[in-house]
Amino acid sequence: MKRLIIGITGASAGIYGVRLLEVLTEHEDIEVHLTISASGARALSEELQIKIDLNNFELESLIGVSSPRIIYHHESDIAAPIASGSFRTEGMIVVPCSMGSIASIANGMSRNLIQRAADVCIKEKRRLVLVPRETPLSPIHLENMLKLSRIGVCVLPAMPGFYHFPKNVDDLLNFIITKILDQFDIDTKLIQRWKE
Ligand SMILES: Cc1cc2nc3c(=O)[nH]c(=O)nc-3n(C[C@H](O)[C@H](O)[C@H](O)COP(=O)(O)O)c2cc1C
Repeated sequence: MKRLIIGITGASAGIYGVRLLEVLTEHEDIEVHLTISASGARALSEELQIKIDLNNFELESLIGVSSPRIIYHHESDIAAPIASGSFRTEGMIVVPCSMGSIASIANGMSRNLIQRAADVCIKEKRRLVLVPRETPLSPIHLENMLKLSRIGVCVLPAMPGFYHFPKNVDDLLNFIITKILDQFDIDTKLIQRWKE
């Protein structure tokens, strides 16, 4: 069983996180440890009209189904398993990743469980994929991302390509989901790959 950590922060495009969770419920060999920041919950509410209660979280409220393989942890629960390097995982995806969380992760701040779990991935040299969503980018944003990229973090902006001839929003989401899961060698048949 592969273990993946997913963090949803307060950047726009929480729909990528929602879609990623939907896709992973179909992979029976993957256990997901999910945490959502307070701003992440707020942005999901503003953009998708998804109301989630972080204190009494129900997966159905986010993706419409439940799954025993998606385990939720409150963002303030710094005693959760994913806060420790001794809890082995394949790595972590923060999707979407706000510039605030990028700045905190780049500087080892660990102010909530998402930032702490990311810090653990960096120190344990596990795969960490950050999916930033901001435009335009300031020099501060760029410097933080460069710093992370230089230490091996995968900065994978929510910038879908158009060479798979997307016809709808789902096609655009599937492009980014495929790129994210490629980082963990998890194959999906969500898009037609270039020249395949
Ligand atoms: C609807 C909405 C959209 C937002 N979009 C972005 C965004 O695209 N990128 C970003 O960096 N911050 C965005 N923010 C601001 C962040 O939520 C804010 O900086 C927050 O403090 C981030 O906290 P977190 O990283 O702990 O989730 C948005 C906020 C709201 C309410």
